[in-house]
This record gives sequence, C-alpha cells and structure tokens, in this order.
Amino acid sequence: MSQTKASVSELVRHWQDVPGGLMPALWSIQNAFGHVPSHAVPEIASILNLSVAEVHGVISFYHDFKTEPASAHSIKLCRAEACQAMGVRALETFAEQRLGVKFDEQGPLVCLESVYCLGLCACAPAAMVDGKLHARLNEQKLGKLIDECESTEAGAHD
Ligand code: FES
Repeated sequence: MSQTKASVSELVRHWQDVPGGLMPALWSIQNAFGHVPSHAVPEIASILNLSVAEVHGVISFYHDFKTEPASAHSIKLCRAEACQAMGVRALETFAEQRLGVKFDEQGPLVCLESVYCLGLCACAPAAMVDGKLHARLNEQKLGKLIDECESTEAGAHD
C-alpha cells in the first residue's frame, strides 16, 4: 500500500504547481491504476492544497472517474431517445439480469454503463463493448456479446 501511495504522490506532485492541476492529476492516477483509490483522496487534496470535499466533488461529478478497480470488460448501452424508441428498455432489463449487475455498477467481470447517444441513432439500439460499436442490437446479439466478454479475461476500455 505504501508503494501505491508513493506512486500516487509522485503523480500528483507533477501537477502541484499547475493551475487546474486536479483534473490531469486524477487522469494520471486513473491511467496508472485503473481507478482513483478512495484512500488516496486526502493525499491528493493535501498536495494540491484543496479540501477533501473538493477532490471528492470532482471525482463524483465526472462519471468517467472510477473509485473501484475496473471490471475486465465494459458494456456501454445507449439509453437515449432513438434507442428507447427502438426497444432499448427491454435490453436494459435483459443486460442487468444476464450480468447480475445494475447500470453503472462494477461487476467482477463486466461493468454495465449508461451512455446517451453513440451517434448510431439510425441503427438503434446501439452499444459500445470494450470500445467497439455495435448496432441494431436485440437480445440475441447482446447475449452473444456478453458471452464473448465472459469467455475472455480482459477487454480494452475506451
Ligand atoms: S440515441 Fe442511441 S445511438 Fe443515438
């Protein structure tokens, strides 16, 4: 743990004297560790001369910052209007039941996330799985994508 803390400290000190250094510091931590560990927040705040509440506020405001180790795979299902019109609500329920997680929860293997438009409205419903776009989804196609996630160790987070 002390090695991790030292590494977090080094990453944050790089941004110590840069105005607005919190965001790049958090990104560098997440890039290095896959998430921003909660135990590191007081240290980040101290080095950047911010309050713990300020650092927590930024981490919780920006959906892309993770506070838990990332799952091996990421499924981002579009829940915006065009996908809703094409039946994504049924796919939401299917995905939650099939994966055993709720939206925006880190599962042990797959993180199921909400996104709001992937630019594939004409081919809705759409999803991004490990950074790759998939369109015209139905339960069969989504189930196959989930099977592929479950059968491989790790994917590529975008
Ligand atoms: S609304 Fe789903 S891709 Fe645009």
